[in-house]
Order: sequence, then structure tokens, then C-alpha cells
Amino acid sequence: MSLEPAEPRAQARGLNITDQLLELSAKGLRRTLRTIESTQDAYVTMNGRRLCCMCSNNYLGLASHPEVIAAVKSAVERWGWGAGASRLVSGHMGPHAELEARLAAFENTPAALVCSTGYQANLAAIRGLAGPDDILLLDKLNHASIIDAARGSGAVLRVFPHRDYAKLERLLDRSAGYRRRIIITDSIFSMDGDFADLPRLADLKRRYDALLIVDEAHATGIFGRQGRGVAELMQVEEAIDVTVGTLSKALGGIGGFIAASTEIIDLLVNVAGPFIYTTALPPAACAAALAALDLIEREPQRREKLLSLANRLRAELGDRLGFDLGGSTSQIVPIIVGEAEAAVQLSRRLEEGGFLIPAIRPPTVPRGRSRLRISLSAGHDPADVDRLVALLETFR
Ligand SMILES: Cc1ncc(COP(=O)(O)O)c(C=O)c1O
Repeated sequence: MSLEPAEPRAQARGLNITDQLLELSAKGLRRTLRTIESTQDAYVTMNGRRLCCMCSNNYLGLASHPEVIAAVKSAVERWGWGAGASRLVSGHMGPHAELEARLAAFENTPAALVCSTGYQANLAAIRGLAGPDDILLLDKLNHASIIDAARGSGAVLRVFPHRDYAKLERLLDRSAGYRRRIIITDSIFSMDGDFADLPRLADLKRRYDALLIVDEAHATGIFGRQGRGVAELMQVEEAIDVTVGTLSKALGGIGGFIAASTEIIDLLVNVAGPFIYTTALPPAACAAALAALDLIEREPQRREKLLSLANRLRAELGDRLGFDLGGSTSQIVPIIVGEAEAAVQLSRRLEEGGFLIPAIRPPTVPRGRSRLRISLSAGHDPADVDRLVALLETFR
């Protein structure tokens, strides 16, 4: 056995890792991790500087809310930290059961299933329901977790251009003979902030006897009278077979969920690998989500403030200053810049001016559609929005 010190691994094996990194740099696509030195709030500290954080999904400011923190502390005292095993082995604890009952009540569905993340909730829902005898019909701008789930499901995939439901209908026309036809869409598209036309999808689903899965990751807690999301806002909840949501955005914590019929949830518990083969969420994370749901139900003024800030921002940047905001109709407001390098430059200038809004580049968004993805929080004030607008105006 050699006692020589190990060589740097990748170079030693000639894997060209350095070349690949250099290529990413040359294309303006190299990313690095940057450390936040404070709690997650409307303002954060980075490199010792206080910056207005307009890029987080902590939309309602619950990630550091005292009631959420208190719930976590007391759950850790009562239940300990780890769940120790997967849910079907011995990881299913009181807080998981309580959260699932609460989510089903909140979503107004017969049952709900908690997963480790929103990403895994999509994997579990899609891989649990779709296999080689099925066809999946996906919007091109669906979240990466939906695409990954679909690719690994073994089902036949058809992708329609973003919100092109005429094309979806043509695909449905040619999709007879499968065990299940499954239409999957984000309700709010994460990098564009626009809505899916859920009433149109509900109509297609009924006419073609398809299953409809809607990912409400960016809408849960924000849209609809009760905060259930875009399906509630558009009054089409009855038509949705499976709602996927996350506990990590408006709810400010970690975890994901699936809300559906008792039968579908029962099936997923039995066959969905991404639910079965992973350790259960720490029980304290369930307690945090329960506290966040209390706040969402008790304080609708949080979502009202968020949406009024978003209206103000879109009116100023889009209507008055003429920035290209894509089709945003939500708290996610992209400024489409174009080339990756230009988006990085704009982000740098905003950071100099006190705003943290990193550039979003390919492969997260299509080539030539790099952008700044502004996402607002109920923790921001109108003055924060106005300062951002004033700063961007000086760059015009
Ligand atoms: C539409 C959508 N679905 C699912 C997810 C994954 O959620 P999580 O971050 O909880 O894994 C995201 C995350 O950005 C998302 O934007």
C-alpha cells in the first residue's frame, strides 16, 4: 500500500475538471457560494454589509419569525432533533402525523403527505403516479424538479411551449392508449413570476380524462382568499388531482408536501421511491410548518402587503420605466436582461447600491434570457421598493 499523499483527485485522473470550470467562467456562467452572516430577513448581512435581500423565497418573512422559532425550540425539547429513519420504518412521529392532517385541512383535500423537500415532493408525486405505460405532458418552463421527476419516471414525455395550451390540446389528441395521461404545471413559474392558465388546464383535463398535477410552490400562503394558491384564486381546485407544495418558501422552513385523495396518497406511500427511501424530516421542521400555517391563517395582511408591494414594483419598473418584466403577475418580478454577463454586471451594480439580487443565468433560464429575479417579501416596505426603482432608473 502506498503512503504517498494523495494527488489532487480530478487532475490525477485526467478528468478535465479545471477545463470545464474555465469554460464556465469564459461563458460568464461560473457560480460561487456566498455566505449570509445574519438571519434570513428582508435585510441580510454579507461581507459585513447590510443588504436589502430581494432574491429570497421567504415571501412572508416567516423564516425567522419568533413564533416559528419558539415552535422549533419546544419541538426539539419534546421530540429531539433527528427522525432516525424513513417514514415507513420508524421515522413517522407525532409532528409528521399532525402536520399531514393540518395540511389536508388547509388544502381542503382528503389527505396530504409530507416529503423532505419540495423537490422530493415532485419526485414522489410524479414517479409514484407515472411509469412506462403513461404519458406526461409538461410546460417547457416547469421547475427542474418536475423535469427531473418526469425524466426518471420511465413515462413517455411531451413538452409543450410555455403556456401554449393549443399545442397541449394537439398533444392530447394524439395521446390515446396510455394508462394515464398526466398534465403537470407550475401554478406560478419560478423564474418568470407568471401564472399557468389553470381554468384552461382544468377544462382540458376534464375533456381528455387526464390527471392534473399542479405545483403551487410559489403560491402557497400567498394567493387565494385562504392562501391556498393560484387554484384557489382561479376557483378551479375541484379539477386538480394532485397539489404539490413546499414548506420552504412562504412557510419559511424546509420540507414539501403532496395534497390529494386518500387513495392517491396511499398509493404514493406504497410506491413512491423518493418518499420511501429517505429519512423523515426532523420533527421540529414539522412544528415550524405548523406554526407558519397558524400565521398564514391568522395574518392575511402579510400576503396582502406582499402583493401590494409587487403591484407597486411592476407598475414602476414595467409601466413607467419600460423594463422587460416578462409576464410577471406575482411577487416574482424578473428583469430580463439577455446575455449572462450583462445580467451579472447589473447585479453587481445593484449590490454596490445596497441590494442583493443575483443574476439568474442558463441553464436555469434559456440562453439569451438571463435576468435578475426580484422576489419581494412582506418584510419589505414601500420605501425599499422605491429605492430599488430609483437606483434602476439611474442605470437606464
Ligand atoms: C416550482 C417549484 N417547485 C418545487 C421547488 C422545490 O422546492 P424546495 O426548495 O422546497 O425543494 C421549487 C424550488 O425552487 C420550485 O420553484
